[in-house]
Amino acid sequence: MKDKLKEIEEAALLSATEVVTETELQQVRARYLGRKGEITAVMKGMGQLSPEERPLVGVLANEVKDRLEAAFSERQEALRQEIMQQNLANEKLDVTLPGRKQRRGYKHPITLVTEEIVTIFASLGFGVAEGPEIEKDFYNFEALNIPKDHPARDMQDTFYISEEVVLRTHTSPVQIRTMLEHAPPVRVIAPGTVYRRDSDITHSPMFHQVEGFLVDRKVTFGDLKGILTTFINEFFGESVDVRFRPSFFPFTEPSAEVDIQCVICGGSGCRVCGQSGWLEILGSGMIDPEVFKSVNYDPEVYSGFAFGMGIERIAMLKYGVNDLRLFFENDLRFLKQF
Ligand code: DAH
Repeated sequence: MKDKLKEIEEAALLSATEVVTETELQQVRARYLGRKGEITAVMKGMGQLSPEERPLVGVLANEVKDRLEAAFSERQEALRQEIMQQNLANEKLDVTLPGRKQRRGYKHPITLVTEEIVTIFASLGFGVAEGPEIEKDFYNFEALNIPKDHPARDMQDTFYISEEVVLRTHTSPVQIRTMLEHAPPVRVIAPGTVYRRDSDITHSPMFHQVEGFLVDRKVTFGDLKGILTTFINEFFGESVDVRFRPSFFPFTEPSAEVDIQCVICGGSGCRVCGQSGWLEILGSGMIDPEVFKSVNYDPEVYSGFAFGMGIERIAMLKYGVNDLRLFFENDLRFLKQF
């Protein structure tokens, strides 16, 4: 019996040194000291021993049990230390490592140019208005004096959503929406996204415009010229020449297109300005009385001017960008430069 206990003890101690996790140690402990364990079995079997042998074996078994308990506890403590050391090593923080650089974001050049235009007009007393990109035919065309059969509709290749609903082809419908909501005087600038079925080096099916208009008593073409010249000199520089060229828009009468001296060649003629020395940058005019009628403004009392410009075109001229598509390709190497 003594030998048997000795054997069990040695085997148990060996197993305890071999385990690498606490769970394994629990299993070893159960195998020897648990209710169905080997030491327990020895103790249960003592009834079959002779009365002389019984106390001796009993004492011995208890001693083995105590030693094993102690060995298991010690091993458990050692395992816990090992795991803790491992965790400490894994979680070590090197506070001297250089930090990870936070990359800065950049505003898109179209956003920058829009903000600059809005800021200049804000300093001239203009407020900002917006309208929906999905627009009713009425606001995009009809109320702007462009009836259904009007040839001017061909000027703008329209995305139709239904018979009466379009993707707005310009920001001019914001004029109508604003005037229907506000009595004169009004002085508003309206930046936004517009859509046309057009796509090449200088046209994108989605692009941006800024609309502006001013309505009050006694507004004249002189006011239009003054405001637009002031804007152009703020935006492109004091020395840039400006000219007003007669044109046609259904919603203005008279109408003018505005050219600036070519910012690439300074007016001597180059590829960008088609050797003319001039670049067209916006459309404008005195608001047509027909438009006032559709928003219930009295054309006998009020007059006003309006203008609209393409933001991409202005951004290309300002920054010397020669391909419109660069603005929409999301190439950071391009976008970072502004
Ligand atoms: N809506 C015109 C276009 O997209 C631009 C324009 C011209 C707007 C003359 C105006 C204006 O307000 O008076 O081509």
